[in-house]
Amino acid sequence: MKKIRQCFGIVLWLIIVSLGCNPVQSVDRNNFKTCEQSSFCRRSRRVKPGQSPYQLHLNTLSVGSSSISAELVNYNNLAKFKFELSAIKEETFRMKISELSPIRPRYEVESALVSEPELDTLKIIEQTADHVTVQAGANEAKVFAAPFRVDLYSHGQLVISSNARGLLKFEHYRKKPEPKAEEGAGAAEEAEAAGEEDIEADPGAWEENFKSHHDTKPYGPAAVALDFSFVGAHHAYGIPEHADSFALKSTKNTDPYRLYNLDVFEYELWNPMALYGSVPFLIAHGPARTVGVLWLNAAETWVDILSSGDQTVVSSIVNFVSGSDPTPQVDAHFISETGIIDVFFNLGPRPLDVFRQYTKLTGTAPLPQYFAIAYHQSRWNYNDQDDVRMVESKFDEHDLPLDVMWLDIEHTDNKKYFTWDHLRFSQPTEMTQNLTAHGRKLVVIVDPHIKRDGSYFLHNDAESNGYYVKNKEGRDFEGWCWPGSSSYLDFLNPAVQDYYAQRYSLDNFKGSTEDTYIWNDMNEPSVFSGPEVTMHKDCVHHGGWEHREIHNIYALLNTKVTFNGLFRRSEGKLRPFILTRGHFAGSQRYAAVWTGDNAADWAHLRITVPMCLSLSVSGISFCGADVGGFFRSPDEELITRWYQAAAFQPFFRSHAHIDTKRREPWLFGEETLGVIREALRKRYSLLPLWYTLFREHELTGAPVMQPLWAQFPTETDTFAIDDEYLLGDRLLVHPVTEAEASSVTVYFPGPGQIWYDMDSYEAIHVSSKHSGGRTEQIPVNIRKVPVFQRGGTIVPKKERIRRAASLSLDDPFTLLVALDVNGTASGTVYIDDGRSYEYKQGKYLYLDLKFEGKTLTSRFIDKNSKFPTKAWLERVVIIGWPSAVSKARIESKGMGTNVLEASYNSAAHLLVVRKPAVSMAEEWTLSLL
Ligand SMILES: *[C@@H]1O[C@H](CO)[C@@H](O)[C@H](O)[C@H]1NC(C)=O
Ligand SMILES: *[C@@H]1O[C@H](CO)[C@@H](O)[C@H](O)[C@H]1NC(C)=O
Repeated sequence: MKKIRQCFGIVLWLIIVSLGCNPVQSVDRNNFKTCEQSSFCRRSRRVKPGQSPYQLHLNTLSVGSSSISAELVNYNNLAKFKFELSAIKEETFRMKISELSPIRPRYEVESALVSEPELDTLKIIEQTADHVTVQAGANEAKVFAAPFRVDLYSHGQLVISSNARGLLKFEHYRKKPEPKAEEGAGAAEEAEAAGEEDIEADPGAWEENFKSHHDTKPYGPAAVALDFSFVGAHHAYGIPEHADSFALKSTKNTDPYRLYNLDVFEYELWNPMALYGSVPFLIAHGPARTVGVLWLNAAETWVDILSSGDQTVVSSIVNFVSGSDPTPQVDAHFISETGIIDVFFNLGPRPLDVFRQYTKLTGTAPLPQYFAIAYHQSRWNYNDQDDVRMVESKFDEHDLPLDVMWLDIEHTDNKKYFTWDHLRFSQPTEMTQNLTAHGRKLVVIVDPHIKRDGSYFLHNDAESNGYYVKNKEGRDFEGWCWPGSSSYLDFLNPAVQDYYAQRYSLDNFKGSTEDTYIWNDMNEPSVFSGPEVTMHKDCVHHGGWEHREIHNIYALLNTKVTFNGLFRRSEGKLRPFILTRGHFAGSQRYAAVWTGDNAADWAHLRITVPMCLSLSVSGISFCGADVGGFFRSPDEELITRWYQAAAFQPFFRSHAHIDTKRREPWLFGEETLGVIREALRKRYSLLPLWYTLFREHELTGAPVMQPLWAQFPTETDTFAIDDEYLLGDRLLVHPVTEAEASSVTVYFPGPGQIWYDMDSYEAIHVSSKHSGGRTEQIPVNIRKVPVFQRGGTIVPKKERIRRAASLSLDDPFTLLVALDVNGTASGTVYIDDGRSYEYKQGKYLYLDLKFEGKTLTSRFIDKNSKFPTKAWLERVVIIGWPSAVSKARIESKGMGTNVLEASYNSAAHLLVVRKPAVSMAEEWTLSLL
């Protein structure tokens, strides 16, 4: 959603509050803080390495079956903390540091973890005056007392060290100093003696101004910060959301990466500025090991990254690992405004292990309904119900598949969510039923700001029940957003959670149906009149928590409640679908995420890959970007390339700003329409693969969209690649993201691997003589989407393309069997009703396919699961087959034995077996004769 309009709509307001809203076409950086403009970031960033005043009192050590704890003291001011280290199942340690007896409770994050993590057993294996070592499985933690440091070992190798650089900082809550009559030398000396000179000297410690906004900071300085050194890591990844390269850059000469959910107008590319979401999860990867760190803190956070090249002697811990050996290392320094230090260390050792370990903590994305992974058509706005009907019918007329129509804010009665514009959407139920009759769905927007309008039931309920977030004076917070003067539901309040979830019931949300799904936008939250376009940090939530403490989980809670609402609406029968802009660790359990208000230019198309990779490795697999770019209008070539690229990204939706030209596919020339149709058909034909990958993500945490190093972890050439990626372990995708491209440079990973062009079946062999991959120029014309199937895999597809994916569930399957150098291949197919939760009761089929020698078999992975699918096997295509075969035999219990024709294309090394016609609900064996 957004903007331009915002500038006109609230111009008066803007003058009053002198908030800049810049109508030029890039972000107004002045609207957003730098680290230097933020007192806690500034203070923490100035901490000098190598002088840590923190010491652990090992004489206070207490040992439990899964954890140890002890007192930690800051010798500059004698503030006391509790240190706790626990062992968690799945190669994970958790470290918590909090105040021993704070004068006010410190906020601990809710709702990000899927549940209380399962503890593992731990035992002390060594204790001296200077350190204690604990062991959990093959992992050890060596905790040093003075200065405090925690080194984590896996299989005897040092992998992560915390506070190795001595940047730990925990600003305990304190009483506000009395204003001094005179700022004499005595006071300054006193402060210095207490080691608090940074706070005393910082005019922003107790109150802070930014532009015209004043932050009262009633509880004063409360920052927490800590450094982590990753031994052997070449790069760090994750900590979305930023419009930057996938491999994080050194921030030595820039601001740190910022995590603070913000509605950034026309965001700039390739920089560490904050965007709509914040996932404080970082992955460090090297050829020998991959590890992850979850910094569980919901306050504004900045992250500095240093890589080996930036090391100073003091910052490198290599010297006590292996002397002068130049072991690569990445250092990260997390700085949060408040909260506690609560860190999870996932020790790998492989990327897929880290994904599993991390999603064990924060959850995986539940399997979406089948329609949700198909194509979505959106714009701000479809004008009225006739427009919706017209657009939908044009999709049919032009033979373009479509599953979902979307309505942005203008569908409501004056931006009152859960209502409809009476004139333009007078028959919403019939409109939706018309879509449903064609197998399609509707998504409508529901934002968390509430119009302050005495005739709006939601406002009246919220106001009278105290459901709004409060300002610092304790009155309902009011800010400016789409409806004008608005207040914001306080999702921390359990009563609000229940009330809001109920709004989604069919009785309450008149005009909605079971096929109406939800888009939660503007949930950073966006407040046009607020500091940095969001809520004041001294606003107050349920429980007395300041907004400062929970800011980054506001969107998470918003989508959690929406999810519960949709779940209850169908009495737990149908899987909800929600799209969210704001997000945090754990958001994947509730919603898909898109990259917000991008623009119609090539660089924005290009950055969709690194942005979605960063989200994917941080647990958020269901990611996409507005096709065509939200702002401005794409030309024919750009829209074509965007459709082609997005057809191979998890969430596939076209969307556009209200001031852009209409851009439905038929509004371009015949050729463009034809190529877009092809891209859509490619997506639809591969939906069985997408669906299987989403199910496997739900089971294992493996991202649907993966960086090359997830499958080729030791291949250093893959580490910085972010213009191509893998879908599962089966397809390699390199979208064309440059104008007038006549070729793309594709890196094919894996010594000894074969990659097959999905269009020509041409084989690209990677030599097994070298340790790296192979780089090739692949020629492209406007129709070409460079996608390659990995030899050794089997890809399921459906070649009949229906008007909507949900109508294709019974259609027959084609299997693409791509052989590796040994002439073998394997793969899986997942099948269920595409809609309900019955799969949780065993109503599904999960097939294990194997090709070896001359035989392809299909076996059930879960013998007790069953699903009566009508789908059958229509075709088997064996890619890379060396010689002619003319007959094959299919056998199954239900069908007996049949002999089939096979045809061989010797130029393409392609063997096609037609109509095995066996049911996918049976186990079967296909043999080449
Ligand atoms: C629903 O479809 C029917 C038949 O095409 C059409 O006459 C009617 O106007 C549609 N209703 C809405 C609300 O779009
Ligand atoms: C081929 O088989 C050999 C011997 O079993 C094995 O070492 C190799 O990993 C296999 N290659 C592939 C690509 O699976």
